[in-house]
Amino acid sequence: MGGTDLRGMLKGRGDDLDRWARTINPQFIRVLRTIDFDRTWERAEGAYLWDADGHRYLDMLGGFGMYNAGRNNPRIRDALIEALELDTPGSVQMGATALPGLLAEALLARTPARLERVQFTSSGTEAIEAALKLGRAATKRSRVISLDHGFHGLTLGSLSANGNPEFTARFGPLLPGFEQVPFGDLDALEEQLRREDVALFLVEPVQGKGVNLPPEGYLQGAQALCRRYGTLFCVDEIQTGFGRTGKLFAFEHWGLEPDLVPVAKSLSGGYVPVGALLMSRAVHEAVYDSMKNAVAHGSTFAPNELAMAAGLATLQEIDDQGLVEQAARLGEKLLELTRPLVDELDVVREVRGLGLIWAIEFGEPESRKLSWKMIEKMQPGLFAQFVVGPLFSQHRILSQVAGHNIPVLKALPPLVVTDADIEYFAESLASAIKRAQRTPSALTRFALTAAGIR
Ligand SMILES: Cc1ncc(COP(=O)(O)O)c(C=O)c1O
Repeated sequence: MGGTDLRGMLKGRGDDLDRWARTINPQFIRVLRTIDFDRTWERAEGAYLWDADGHRYLDMLGGFGMYNAGRNNPRIRDALIEALELDTPGSVQMGATALPGLLAEALLARTPARLERVQFTSSGTEAIEAALKLGRAATKRSRVISLDHGFHGLTLGSLSANGNPEFTARFGPLLPGFEQVPFGDLDALEEQLRREDVALFLVEPVQGKGVNLPPEGYLQGAQALCRRYGTLFCVDEIQTGFGRTGKLFAFEHWGLEPDLVPVAKSLSGGYVPVGALLMSRAVHEAVYDSMKNAVAHGSTFAPNELAMAAGLATLQEIDDQGLVEQAARLGEKLLELTRPLVDELDVVREVRGLGLIWAIEFGEPESRKLSWKMIEKMQPGLFAQFVVGPLFSQHRILSQVAGHNIPVLKALPPLVVTDADIEYFAESLASAIKRAQRTPSALTRFALTAAGIR
């Protein structure tokens, strides 16, 4: 029987970056080359990646949050192999099979009683699209309120709820009926909700772009307003879910009981695209209200059999490895190790985080005002890239700037990182910031090249 010979293909494949540039996205490859991220990647395990030269990198980016249980987690891989070996039925389409029901049950067993139904999707943005559609149909209202700087995915419905102009420009007109209000401002929210025409309020408990934490009492207040005015309270746990913040779901920090909870990313251990919308029975029954409407929403690949198998193994792994507690403990440790930088280095404005979603924000220093101004004038947020760059090339740590045009460096590591990894990250970060502050001419050279990215 002839195999595909992936091994052979990989061995003789030539240059990955050149091929991407030719076939997928040349501008992205230019960016990688400019910021010195143009490595050839060979393999990954847990919180580490290895390049073709055999160098190990600490992954503080976690595939944007899809590797909470670690890259190439062996238990999740085994579950996938088992599912393949069992020749499970896959999608019958006009039928109900075992794995989706088992995963739905496992998810609902871990969430508040208010959530009683699951609609599977194949990605985060599709889980948001489901929330928008089902929320509209259930309430018979059309408006959607979200937040400035909010991020919920890049398909057109999710994009219409996006509060970052960099993502929305050039793609309009967006859907009508969508509006954003400032994060933390209950009065502004109430002003919208009191019209009693808002289907849902969409909020990330911790905003991924910038890592913005909610002010005290905000989320509880928002939930109360939603209940008062008949708006569905939709908490986007796509990035914050599955242990990231030191609770299985971030809404647990504030004892919230949302009507809608989109999840995705780490649910399948990073192996298979997946998403799900967890919802109250009331929402579900209002939409799926008759046999005629039994398939009111869905897509061909969801629920995907392999995603379901991986999901079951992922939930088990999160429990058995104590990853939620580990995220809480290591998140505290990371804050303890990095908070002193605010006093030590005048370019550091704030360090913030919840569990293992963490960020450091830079600001104009008292000394060296001129070079800061020059750098940030070329491209706002560029100073953070000056730290991300050396962290990668000199310390072999993968991290990212937390959004467009903001001087914030973000970490979102797999929850399997160790104490030693966190210590290494904190030490390397301090030395990379000090070096970035000291070398304005090298930075300026970099800035000039980076400015040519566009
Ligand atoms: C909070 C949040 N919502 C939605 C999404 C969209 O998910 P996906 O990229 O799977 O479409 C993301 C992705 O980064 C996210 O962080």
